Amino acid sequence: MGALLVRNAACLVQVERVRRPLLRGAAQGVLPVLENGYVLAENGRILAFGPSAEAPERADLEIDAKGGFVLPCWVDSHTHLIFAGSREGEFADRINGLSYEEIARRGGGIMNSARLLRETPEEKLREQAYARLLEVQGKGTGAMEVKSGYGLNTEAELKMLRVARWLKEVSKAPLKVSFLGAHTIPADYRDRREEYVRLLVDEMIPRVAGEGLADYIDVFCEKVAFSPAEMDLLLEAGAKHGLKPKVHVNQFNALGGIGVALKHGAVSVDHLEVVGEEEFPLLKNGSTIATLLPSAPFFLNDHYPPARRLIREEIPVALASDYNPGSSPSGSMPFVLSLACVKLRMTPEEAINAATLNGAYALELESECGGIAVGKRADLIITRPVPSLAFLPYAFGSDWIAEVILQGERV
Ligand code: NIG
Ligand code: FE
Repeated sequence: MGALLVRNAACLVQVERVRRPLLRGAAQGVLPVLENGYVLAENGRILAFGPSAEAPERADLEIDAKGGFVLPCWVDSHTHLIFAGSREGEFADRINGLSYEEIARRGGGIMNSARLLRETPEEKLREQAYARLLEVQGKGTGAMEVKSGYGLNTEAELKMLRVARWLKEVSKAPLKVSFLGAHTIPADYRDRREEYVRLLVDEMIPRVAGEGLADYIDVFCEKVAFSPAEMDLLLEAGAKHGLKPKVHVNQFNALGGIGVALKHGAVSVDHLEVVGEEEFPLLKNGSTIATLLPSAPFFLNDHYPPARRLIREEIPVALASDYNPGSSPSGSMPFVLSLACVKLRMTPEEAINAATLNGAYALELESECGGIAVGKRADLIITRPVPSLAFLPYAFGSDWIAEVILQGERV
């Protein structure tokens, strides 16, 4: 791989002359930029960046940013990229008045995706997931998390995780994998939920960890899924097998899942549409990241997480897409950025920090991703010429990405 030179950027965004810590409070709103700059990459890594006047004369591959902005790629730290088919039937049901939770109670929702996934051949799952991966890369995603959780039995969960492993191998973007066997109680275990929890603890978690198929353990802690006590057991089992928690909590109800997740040292607590007054102090001063997924309440027409309050309480905030067939059939991080500004009242700087560097921290990829820093991966978004940074979330739905570079190569 030769050297790549990106020249004539109007602005380099999220430049790290010294590596930045996890961002919270006032720092969440500080976004370092360098006007009029270049980036030089070699062997997939950033070798140098600086003012245009100091740019090298030439390189093997040169890209003229033509006055566009250059950002690090998004780090999408919460997705369900691997799933079979789609669920637009439920979308129509919701328009006609059914709620997401009601659909789940009737055996639809996640269970619908599980039924479909179980009968879908591995090869087909690969194809569908790979197409989605390429789609989101085109929207600037340069690293992501993918989950299991639509198998809900040992065989189908392992099938999903093998697809995830394959994706990891073929993907130009680094991927982290979470085991979400505890996504919901499968239909055949409805009246014997303890047995499903036992199956997870005794069989699935040891197999998944033993085969090295996951980096994290996830649990959906919610009335229509698992209780905090069940999550406690599951995270305990995960810990025994070296899986750190990244969990779904407080999407529709505050059941106490945040406290349980923190007890187990969760890397992140994701969703948080509903946060109990007593839960803010728990998160304050900790290193657990609040990962907000505004596409889900957008799509479910639900209320949004209290981002302003979280930032005020010095709790680090990340943003992710939650790409999944039920609550967010979109993996578009530019749209997430716009939602974060419009609906969560985050500033463009806070939102970009949340979608890049804090997202990288939420995947423990901060030494590799999330900023324009010497030694980090050369994963870059080059925009069309835009008047300012705020234009990016402002111009929602418009296609302001001109090029995406992954590991120093055009995608
Ligand atoms: O993060 N809430 C649980 N899991 C997903 C939705 C899954 C589905 O409906 O298929 C979420 O929103
Ligand atoms: Fe999710």
